[in-house]
Amino acid sequence: HGTMSVNEEGHLVIGGCDTVELTKKFGTPLYVLDEQEIRKRCRAYKEAFKKRYPNADVLYASKAFISLAMCQLVDQEGLGLDVVSGGEVYIALQAGFPADKIYVHGNNKSKDELSIAIDAGVKKIVVDNFYELDLLAELLQHKEEQVEILLRITPEVEASTHDYIQTGQQDSKFGFSLTDGGALTAVKKAMQNQRINLKGIHCHIGSQIFEPGSYQATAEVALMFFKQVKEELGLVLDVLNLGGGLGIQYTADQQPPDIDAFVEAITNTVISKANEYKLPLPKIILEPGRSIVGEAGTTLYTLGSCKEIPQIRTYVAVDGGMPNNPRPALYDAEYEAMIANKVNQEPTSQVTIAGKCCESGDILIWDLPVPDVESGDILAVFCTGAYTYSMSSNYNGLPRPAMVLVNSGNAKLIIQRETYKDVIKNDLRLEEYQVFTE
Ligand code: LLP
Repeated sequence: HGTMSVNEEGHLVIGGCDTVELTKKFGTPLYVLDEQEIRKRCRAYKEAFKKRYPNADVLYASKAFISLAMCQLVDQEGLGLDVVSGGEVYIALQAGFPADKIYVHGNNKSKDELSIAIDAGVKKIVVDNFYELDLLAELLQHKEEQVEILLRITPEVEASTHDYIQTGQQDSKFGFSLTDGGALTAVKKAMQNQRINLKGIHCHIGSQIFEPGSYQATAEVALMFFKQVKEELGLVLDVLNLGGGLGIQYTADQQPPDIDAFVEAITNTVISKANEYKLPLPKIILEPGRSIVGEAGTTLYTLGSCKEIPQIRTYVAVDGGMPNNPRPALYDAEYEAMIANKVNQEPTSQVTIAGKCCESGDILIWDLPVPDVESGDILAVFCTGAYTYSMSSNYNGLPRPAMVLVNSGNAKLIIQRETYKDVIKNDLRLEEYQVFTE
């Protein structure tokens, strides 16, 4: 993946940096992000549109991984940002991300989240439900502001991925329903409000998806709705946001389409269906998260204890686990890994990589082929750029790892390692509590 190679010492090198040296300097667990790989993927999306469908915007879905440096990088590459909470709005603005390139998502935005975003100039909102449409209308009564909205609809397209990360099916908590007429009612409601500028429709069918066909089906459903809105309400919608979700190659047996082929399939369908339905070509928006940052990330751990159960299995534990990568425990996610200080050595056995948390489910990788290993070896787990740090916790009192951005032999510390002091930064002692009495 990315800019990886092996040096004379048989060490894994990422972005020109010897990973073993990185662990000496920054400790483990350590998240390593390959800057060129991130930039390459941002550009791949932009280029794929530019050459065949220039009326398009690519937003990075920051839930995959957000930090100040990541926002800066995404901004430098000319992408917009899809954020899902007041916290993500805050991080983006602190990073200096242009407010007018931020879209606010979420199925339960609070009044405060909406209000703060609008006041800060973040006025592109993906409205998920009637409650939110009312909240927005109420808020705008007191503000001299206009907002642009997209309505999120449930396209009722099922995509094959883990159940927890499917979102487009009818039985979903997200979006307005097409079948019960909710989506059309929402359009009417939005059209009646002078402060709300309804630009188009948003759909997101899920994550880690490999078939462009699911997106083509979604585009078709959405454009059929555009046609209905035009015919019944006389409104021509301009924006079709098809969400994120393009899968990445976590393991060798997975073959996701490349970004260009994926974009080509989508644009072809949009062009042909828009023509068929006699609609002007809409602006297409995509919101990739994982496919921008996932393969760019590697997590380095130090091997520690080992438990051999003869004829059954050998467990080797690392100095992290589910607090820094909850995906195996949560989704049965599979990862590939190698011993970063023994890259040229042939595998001699299989070991199961266990985390250090007090639960049996804290296993990162089952039956990983490895050369002879000993404590102190460095394990590199690949494809950990997305939904790891952003989903990390302090479970079992583990401080969050540091993160470095590597490029051309330089490593920039972009997230400091948490300290034990950080772990209790919000705690108050019993005697410090303010007691509220009637
Ligand atoms: N847009 C919307 C509205 C989304 O809900 C998501 C992801 C994305 C874009 C970005 O999807 P991506 O391109 O990253 O697949 N924690 C899970 C993934 C949850 C995805 C949530 N929504 C995991 O670790 O697999």
